[in-house]
Amino acid sequence: MTLRARILGAAAGGGLPQWNCGCENCRLARAGRIPAQTQSSLAVSADGTNWAILNASPDIRQQLADTPALHPTGLRDVPLRSVLVTNGDIDHVAGLLVLREMQGFTLFATSGIHAVLRTNPVFDALNPTVVTRTDIALETPFELAAGLEATLFPVPGKVPLYMEGETVETDLIGEQTVGVHLRAGGRDAFYVPGCATMTDDLRARLRGADLVFFDGTLWRDDEMVRAGLGQKTGKRMGHMSMSGPDGSIAAFEGMDVGTRVFVHMNNTNPVLRPDSAERREAEAAGWTIGRDGMEIVP
Ligand code: MLT
Ligand code: MN
Ligand code: ZN
Repeated sequence: MTLRARILGAAAGGGLPQWNCGCENCRLARAGRIPAQTQSSLAVSADGTNWAILNASPDIRQQLADTPALHPTGLRDVPLRSVLVTNGDIDHVAGLLVLREMQGFTLFATSGIHAVLRTNPVFDALNPTVVTRTDIALETPFELAAGLEATLFPVPGKVPLYMEGETVETDLIGEQTVGVHLRAGGRDAFYVPGCATMTDDLRARLRGADLVFFDGTLWRDDEMVRAGLGQKTGKRMGHMSMSGPDGSIAAFEGMDVGTRVFVHMNNTNPVLRPDSAERREAEAAGWTIGRDGMEIVP
């Protein structure tokens, strides 16, 4: 067994370019001057034959088409065994609708996230006679695909945008936002595409990991405000930023983690430009900037 991970989509919700965005990155991506990136998803396998997808993005149709390892092997035989969603955000669940077509797989999530999906009857398009929805308790290892063990753990986050009420707590710890600990072939990898702040618990958990995929939504907290794209800060969206004293780069400094890869990058993030100073800074701090199609075997 060899743990392998392939980034299907390195961008956050909206993708790069985002359909309605005229920011510098989106314009460069449209012009083909920087690589476009699809929305947040990771494929993982322990045997190279049976695969799981972590988060079903709205771009999953194209992502599957672009990934030969996930192509059908027979008339209705596919390597995809399961889909796991780490929260109920649209960029992580809308792709489930693409996966209808009477194809069997297991849908893993916490009972809290399954409850959110159940309030949206459109997901009943996943026929329960073929798609099994399995509740996963936090801190309880389970088999995600052949030879691939996964454990869900809570990370600070918020409820999905479409469930927000009058007041929003952005660093709730519970079943609504989780990270995934993956184990296979003696390797430990973590997938944390959304995280509001670094906690002592998370720091302790990640220590010694061979590979971490981590929330890279924004470079700086007020990036979208400064770009004139809205009033939302990263904090308000439940995402810690890469830079600054409270940022992820600082949080991981001195931490015993092997390969560290940013994923879930918003289209405004300057690290998406290969020649940016911010990208050089992140790379100098030991980070890899994830991109679509990147495969990592820790
Ligand atoms: C997020 O990661 O903050 C969400 O995906 C935002 C959204 O729902 O568009
Ligand atoms: Mn998102
Ligand atoms: Zn943009």
